[in-house]
Amino acid sequence: MKNKHLIAPSILSANFSNLQKDIDMVEKAGADWLHIDVMDGHFVPNITIGPLVVKAVRPLSKLFFDVHLMITNPEKYWHNFVKNGANLIVFHEEVLCDKKRLIQDIKEENIKVGISIKPKTSVEEILEFLPLLDVVLVMTVEPGFGGQSFMEDMLPKISYLRKIIDNNNYNCLIEVDGGINVETATKCLECGADVLVSGNTIFASKDPVIALQNLKSIKI
Ligand code: DX5
Ligand code: ZN
Repeated sequence: MKNKHLIAPSILSANFSNLQKDIDMVEKAGADWLHIDVMDGHFVPNITIGPLVVKAVRPLSKLFFDVHLMITNPEKYWHNFVKNGANLIVFHEEVLCDKKRLIQDIKEENIKVGISIKPKTSVEEILEFLPLLDVVLVMTVEPGFGGQSFMEDMLPKISYLRKIIDNNNYNCLIEVDGGINVETATKCLECGADVLVSGNTIFASKDPVIALQNLKSIKI
């Protein structure tokens, strides 16, 4: 039995008029990372957080900042997020840019790097990058909004990635994002996920601390 997985609350579902309070709360409750969803209204049909928000909340927390770039030009903007306190930059496989180059550029700054795949993108598309990555982020909803339902048919992607990563001894964590609650998290962990992103399940709960701890204490 193990429960070594990490919890990354997504501030997309937090109270934007008092981010300090919500970040403090999840940090004290035992969050491992803080998941920050950046959307440009182009790659996804929504606009959210920019580098200035990362800069504003960076001094408020010691948490590891996991910045999920749902934007068309990550190669143009990633550095602004690093300058402002990101610890991990995750960009999407579906964007058109020199991805190997982008991975190398991010690593040269001593920042962790990940690639995310949307539900319709297959794992094959990122296999060549796996040995270089710190994180692979499997979207378990269509990116763009919090509070959507988990897509069960993403589970085989997690199992497949687990097998490849273990067989090759790659140093890459599997992160899942979208519709994560205790039930869906358990399924993801059984398939081999390492990091659980959770927005609504934590922040929209009556007791976010208990909700976070329930996710954290799942044992597989
Ligand atoms: C969706 C974002 C998610 C979102 C998850 O595009 O990438 O990180 O905040 O929210 P929940 O956990 O509510 O599905
Ligand atoms: Zn996200």
